[in-house]
Amino acid sequence: MSQHHQHDVLVIGSGAAGLTLALTLPEHLRIAVLSKGNLANGSTYWAQGGVAAVLDDTDTIESHVEDTLNAGAGLCREEAVRFTVEHSREAIQWLIDQGVPFTRDDQTAREDGGFEFHLTREGGHSHRRIIHAADATGAAIFKTLLEQARLRANIEMLEQHVAVDLITERKLDLAGERCLGAYVLNRASGEVDTYGARFVILATGGAAKVYLYTSNPDGACGDGIAMAWRAGCRVGNLEFNQFHPTCLYHPQAKSFLVTEALRGEGALLKLPGGERFMQRFDARAELAPRDIVARAIDHEMKRLGVDCVYLDISHKPADFIKAHFPTVYERCLDFGIDITREPIPVVPAAHYTCGGVLVEQTGQTDVPGLYAIGETSFTGLHGANRMASNSLLECFVYARAAAADIVQQLDDVGMPTGLPCWDASQVTDSDEDVIIAHNWDELRRFMWDYVGIVRTNKRLQRAEHRVRLLLDEIDEFYSNYKVSRDLIELRNLAQVAELMIRSAMERKESRGLHYTLDYPQQLPEAKDTILQPPTYGD
Ligand code: FAD
Ligand code: SIN
Repeated sequence: MSQHHQHDVLVIGSGAAGLTLALTLPEHLRIAVLSKGNLANGSTYWAQGGVAAVLDDTDTIESHVEDTLNAGAGLCREEAVRFTVEHSREAIQWLIDQGVPFTRDDQTAREDGGFEFHLTREGGHSHRRIIHAADATGAAIFKTLLEQARLRANIEMLEQHVAVDLITERKLDLAGERCLGAYVLNRASGEVDTYGARFVILATGGAAKVYLYTSNPDGACGDGIAMAWRAGCRVGNLEFNQFHPTCLYHPQAKSFLVTEALRGEGALLKLPGGERFMQRFDARAELAPRDIVARAIDHEMKRLGVDCVYLDISHKPADFIKAHFPTVYERCLDFGIDITREPIPVVPAAHYTCGGVLVEQTGQTDVPGLYAIGETSFTGLHGANRMASNSLLECFVYARAAAADIVQQLDDVGMPTGLPCWDASQVTDSDEDVIIAHNWDELRRFMWDYVGIVRTNKRLQRAEHRVRLLLDEIDEFYSNYKVSRDLIELRNLAQVAELMIRSAMERKESRGLHYTLDYPQQLPEAKDTILQPPTYGD
């Protein structure tokens, strides 16, 4: 039997953004935090390098702002960049107060006998400003925030709960536009339950799973972006898909990320013959922003017809490498690569979705009562290319801003009542799951081949044609069969792929992460690509 639930706040997503929001809201509110797999299944747990913030006395807000604007290739919204960077120190202080065990710097003892935190460097940053927990920063943050959430009686953590779609006044043909809750598949019971809420938060992460090779965990399917689009929200800049330059190249490694902090601490990129090449592409060499490094690697691989390039940190002392990069060291050793003695084979892989659901500085979307925070949102911070370690920062800053905005509205918003149950009367169990698996593979392969690091009009047109066929097929499947996690994700991924392709076709220039052979120049004026759903503003 499907069930009805009511909460003051429904948070869809248990990563950095969702947990921060839940922990920042007042304790008298009833909050549900959903995760579609286990609670650690988002990207947050896998984050390595750290969080960018202005923490050192010799660093400045202006410098962090300027580096972010430069990396974003003229497309960042300066007010979003300033807002994020200005709130970076207090966000980090909040994490320290929660108990996150950031790495201390034993070189810089304070007057009171304690130690300052170690700050590392990554591409695009002109200063050491990445606070981290060795090379497993995401796991340290996630575990700490989850521990805190578990201490709160008002926060219910629900794993294996997959949000299917949002419930809005518009969809129910009621007067008004507000979001009233969501339909959620409980994977244990197999039922789709109704969750009514005064406020709904999309904290569902990115969509890098749209590509065949990705650093992201399996759930990065753009669910929040697709749900928001169907609910009538605008989306922005979805053509900007970031490829991380250095993922481990090994048949069993499943695109394991080799953190950019290695390059920050002196690792060099080399061709198979041992020759360095990055200085031929950018004066900042290995520490150029990611779009430049990924494109340079792609260029060299194609030019030489090789399967990978190499990242070499073996010139650094072995103790230093093991202390700073224990995760990368151990993981590479699992595959027979000792990074203290030999270079690491690496290739680029899809890593981060720079665009997303258009939001205000409070995380508010176009639909009242619906917020989007973290990687699923488009705040304007990243422009045409996200600078390393600005993503986690965005999660914390905007989650806290959304919580403050919700608190201000508490007296004005009541609990929705009378929400209809999910209607499963017209669907049956699927006996054709092979179609889902096939469509998954097809989608991810043509996105990799046609909408990857280097694009052309022809490739985009091919991708558009194929995605429309897939969407029709998936629609038919969705109307006839009971929902499963795989079907929900495929439906969302195909929708987001279509929006990415459409956005890429609208951009008639090369800028940041969007590089096309048909328009290699950057236009003088930088413009966002904003798409409106058919129902927007009716
Ligand atoms: P996530 O952490 O991805 O969480 C998404 C949550 O939403 C999950 O709980 C998932 O179950 C849930 N969810 C999704 N869809 C549904 C649904 N339909 N129903 C219910 N629940 C759903 N950024 C940095 O700034 N610094 C780094 O060092 C860094 N390193 C990275 C390393 C790796 C390997 C990766 C993959 C990313 C890295 N990033 C880094 C990027 C950063 O980790 C992510 O952008 C950030 O963690 C996203 O957090 P989030 O809370 O938005 O989403
Ligand atoms: C990394 O550690 O290289 C990832 C950092 C990021 O994605 O911001």
